[in-house]
Amino acid sequence: MILKVDAIHTYYGKSHILHGVSLEVGEGEVVALLGRNGVGKTTTLKSIMGLVPPRSGSIVFNGREITRLPAYKVPRLGIGYIPQGKHIFPELTVLENLKIGLIRGKLEGDSLKGTFNYFPRLEERLDQMGGSLSGGEQQMLAIARALITNPRLVLMDEPTEGLMPLLVRLMKDIIKSIKGNGVSLLLVEQNLGTALEVSDKIYIMEKGMIVYEGKPQELAEDEEVKLRYLGVSV
Ligand SMILES: Nc1ncnc2c1ncn2[C@@H]1O[C@H](COP(=O)(O)OP(=O)(O)O)[C@@H](O)[C@H]1O
Ligand SMILES: [Mg+2]
Repeated sequence: MILKVDAIHTYYGKSHILHGVSLEVGEGEVVALLGRNGVGKTTTLKSIMGLVPPRSGSIVFNGREITRLPAYKVPRLGIGYIPQGKHIFPELTVLENLKIGLIRGKLEGDSLKGTFNYFPRLEERLDQMGGSLSGGEQQMLAIARALITNPRLVLMDEPTEGLMPLLVRLMKDIIKSIKGNGVSLLLVEQNLGTALEVSDKIYIMEKGMIVYEGKPQELAEDEEVKLRYLGVSV
């Protein structure tokens, strides 16, 4: 088990958002977290990263309790976070954007090369301004920036949001190859097809709680669950 989230309760001020969320990511697994807008998926990732620390419950990463660790320390333990939306710096070059992802400020040739294996197009555009990249390329840059630290676990928040079908395809391949390199993933998705194709296990959230856990094949065949929690009709 690389990540174990146990009964966390998370608040924004007085708003009680997560009501005892528990989930597990196994070593080398891709785990998808699905659910409609506003159910608490992003808050779950922020809780893990220490950005919105849970008031109760526990989060254990790689055998270590990280529940109350300050947010700046979490990536150093080996968790990469790719927030929702394309958070890159438009006025910085691709290379500068990548350097910002570095934790100790030193660019190791190997991790850079390893990252470019996923994103050959970025390597050709190192001196280009981030803001001049296409939407899809900006999303790739955001992922590259997280991978450059060689994380053991990557949290991705809706990486296929707003991408054209061709880029959704590419994103699925990237997720599979990250997994192929032994990295574990917790993937928040709205796109059921992507989750079904790339994940080993799927959780569904509703109103700050996990309401379903199953294998992709099980969910694919469960029309009632898909309709009730995802609004997917057949
Ligand atoms: N910074 C915030 N302050 C107060 N409420 C928030 C904040 N961010 C999100 N929320 C609320 O928390 C709930 C869950 O949001 P979120 O985790 O972003 O959902 P999801 O990612 O599943 O769409 C929503 O009701 C949302 O309005
Ligand atoms: Mg969200």
